[in-house]
Amino acid sequence: MLVLGIDTSCDDTSIAVLDYNETNKKFTIISNVISSQIKAHVEYGGIVPEIASREHLKNILSVFEMALKEASIKPKNIELIAVTAGPGLLGSLIVGYSFAKGLSIANKTPYITVDHIKAHTAANFIDPFGIKYPAVALTISGGHSSLSVLNSPIEANFIGGTIDDAVGELFDKVARYLNLPYPGGPVLDKLSKEGELKYKFPKPLINEKNYNFSFSGLKTAVINFTKNNKDFELPHLSRSMTESICDIFVKKISAAASEYAAKTLLLSGGVACNTMIRQSVKNLAEKKKLDIMMPPPVLCTDNGAMIAILGTLNFIYSPDKNSKNTDVYPTTRW
Ligand code: KG4
Ligand code: ZN
Repeated sequence: MLVLGIDTSCDDTSIAVLDYNETNKKFTIISNVISSQIKAHVEYGGIVPEIASREHLKNILSVFEMALKEASIKPKNIELIAVTAGPGLLGSLIVGYSFAKGLSIANKTPYITVDHIKAHTAANFIDPFGIKYPAVALTISGGHSSLSVLNSPIEANFIGGTIDDAVGELFDKVARYLNLPYPGGPVLDKLSKEGELKYKFPKPLINEKNYNFSFSGLKTAVINFTKNNKDFELPHLSRSMTESICDIFVKKISAAASEYAAKTLLLSGGVACNTMIRQSVKNLAEKKKLDIMMPPPVLCTDNGAMIAILGTLNFIYSPDKNSKNTDVYPTTRW
């Protein structure tokens, strides 16, 4: 089954073509085109929603044509269109959603809407039924940090999330304060590699008996530290901040894995590119003798392939497979 996946939730215009083999129940990514808008936003130190919508509008047709060209297919060959309905920036979401609807009408191809956060987890599902369930999934991105438990590839139950800033926001806002380029996550990741754990930062909610996160206080603590210690060293700062983040994630994932008798850990989202976070979750999985899955970096950040995967699984296996969100939505719906 040839599936088109479209994501325009934030600042990447992403369209992918995947083939789902219904016999062996595995996906093959045939093309995965991502047009980044970073250049359009960099001078503002963050994403400007109106610019993001306009950039999507400008780019979506050529990204679509490129995805089809790389896959050597024509629009009429597409058997299902999967598109993000939310969460994300409304103006950006509307561009992708309207494009999907238009394509669906023009070619009489069915379409299905997908939740962006659940789709991040699905970036691990090239072989969705080869994974041992239950699985505990940590999805960490620029807008979201959430923990869920999956009993199958399409049954995700939310158990906790951030009560303020997402972890990606923490990286991006600290970097912005320090006049580092946007997005801050990859820059701070690189710096951490040359740093040591020299400064002590708080680990909010680490000992709370729930699965919630809070990163706003950590952000303030790091910023205040730089104000009060003018001779701080950036690599040590980044390393020490990331150590706090890793400790929080390890503690919460470990507790969730025990409580829900998980057999697998799934990491996903843009922040799952982070070297130290990847390593700490790997170490935890080894210690607890759990399987661990984390996508390659290109499938951690926003991409159309993850949308095509979840859309296909919902379309084929979900009891309410014909249901569609008739509107786009800005915040997570579990
Ligand atoms: O998943 P994503 O592409 O978009 C959202 O759905 O938000 O995630 C983007 C986020 C940004 O905050 C970016 O700074 C962060 O992922 N990020 C990283 C790294 N690479 C990207 N954060 C930490 N370390 C990285 N290597
Ligand atoms: Zn995302």
